[in-house]
Amino acid sequence: MTTRAPDSATQTAPVEEARTPPSTSGIRPNPLREGLRLERMAEPCTMVICGATGDLTERKLAPALYNTLLGGFLPPEFTVVGFARRELSDEEFRAHLREGINKHSRNKPVTEAIWDSFARGIEYHRGDFDDPAAYVRLAKRLERIDRDRGTAGNRLFYLAVPPSLYPEIVNQLDRAGLAASGGRRRTGSTRGWTRVIVEKPFGYDLGSARTLNHELGEVFDEDQVFRIDHYLGKETVQNLAVFRFGNGLFEPIWNRRYIDSVQITVAETVGVEGRGEFYDATGALRDIVQGHALQLMAMFAMDPPVEFHAEDLRDEKLKVLRGVKPMSPAEVAANTVRGQYVSGWVEGEKIASYRDQPNVAPGSQTETFAALKLSIDSWRWAGVPFYIRTGKALPSRVTEIAVTFKQAPLALFARAGVPQIDANVLAIRVQPDEGILLRFGAKVPGQGLQIRTVNMDFRYGSSFAVDSPDAYETLLLDAMVGDASLFTRDDEAERAWEILDPILAAWKDEAGGPLHFYGAGTWGPPAADELLERDGRAWRRP
Ligand code: BG6
Repeated sequence: MTTRAPDSATQTAPVEEARTPPSTSGIRPNPLREGLRLERMAEPCTMVICGATGDLTERKLAPALYNTLLGGFLPPEFTVVGFARRELSDEEFRAHLREGINKHSRNKPVTEAIWDSFARGIEYHRGDFDDPAAYVRLAKRLERIDRDRGTAGNRLFYLAVPPSLYPEIVNQLDRAGLAASGGRRRTGSTRGWTRVIVEKPFGYDLGSARTLNHELGEVFDEDQVFRIDHYLGKETVQNLAVFRFGNGLFEPIWNRRYIDSVQITVAETVGVEGRGEFYDATGALRDIVQGHALQLMAMFAMDPPVEFHAEDLRDEKLKVLRGVKPMSPAEVAANTVRGQYVSGWVEGEKIASYRDQPNVAPGSQTETFAALKLSIDSWRWAGVPFYIRTGKALPSRVTEIAVTFKQAPLALFARAGVPQIDANVLAIRVQPDEGILLRFGAKVPGQGLQIRTVNMDFRYGSSFAVDSPDAYETLLLDAMVGDASLFTRDDEAERAWEILDPILAAWKDEAGGPLHFYGAGTWGPPAADELLERDGRAWRRP
């Protein structure tokens, strides 16, 4: 794994130390290699982006590759082949990537010298995904690139296409001899690795996820498949493991004995602008909860892995998901709330009702907000509710995990007439304004006894004078170095659907409760507040 475990000294380290590239393995970077940027340098390889003319390439992949190159983590041999249907020349494709970088990169505009060397390794391959000849030509192109640019037969295929196209593409890759790794490769060289990155959503329900896993498994070994969930690449999510397992303080209290409840919020201010067609068929549960929110929960709640290796980590995350028992329809009605936004104001801007968005059905029943109360039936977490909420068109963009601790056993100060002190809260802010906040009671200075809740606040921005890499930078580099720690394994993806399928089914026929409406710019329907009020709790207003 990468930063999953930097030396705890970096927490207070001066800037120079903070720049040290993270380790690929083990809990501490090897001191002999510290400072060598080579540590996580990708091997020479070719990345083939299937669906390269789409939005993802422009917004995420091109900026991520450029920044990774800028950071010194890509070798000069690195090559990109954009594979798509549209008629484009190499030059036009390069211009498309350059535009994406200039618009969306955290470092912009492009530096000419860096761009020139990057651009030399960018090609475009026109072809239809169902045309075998396109793959035969692709195979020849990749062999030529191996010879000319020294990419050593290493290939990373990125499926930036709708999941319905995955089976076609992977089968075609297989038929053209492009799917096997190392010694298994049928044509050309026997050297080199082949890996495939698949985008979310991974399936539509349990059945389709199983089918997808099966279809991928027919062609690739599981260790070649990298299912991306970009939330796992976010710096703060990786820091969760360091925070918990790198410090002696927190792990002993990370359990039902000290923790009252946990809230996971993934709130967005944006509506579904321009994505109506995708979103109306998807909804908040599939879009955010299936991957992002359940993965956050698993990273938060897992037991310490034996080692920081992909399989150990994913075994532990899977155990958490297995502890979440699928709900009956009555449990769905009691423990979930779904909502859809109607027009309102968000950050000073008027947002039209969800149903009035382009490509959204007029009477759409799709949820743009979901709130769930889950429990993890495990020794560590039995009886601790995990409240998850996510929504579009909410008042602020914030992703956080907030832990509320149990009250002190004795209300000593209440006896002295001081009102009950708020419970301690530890809020892990995933984005924006990444950091960790601890709320506790402190005596107000003066002769009397008055207690007020105060904050102890760690902020990445002020503690480290470095920019965090974008999640895609971390994850692309991880895939190139073969580190699957931050990618979802087949069984994890299926287990997430096992949890969500009954909720989706109960919502479909209303047995799971009605669809509520909420004004854009509010924190969701009142029913979401009632979900917690029934337990004597309230959502945090981040
Ligand atoms: C994507 C969802 O996976 O994550 C989007 O499909 C959502 O609907 C996005 O807006 C949020 O990602 P981030 O990194 O901006 O929080």
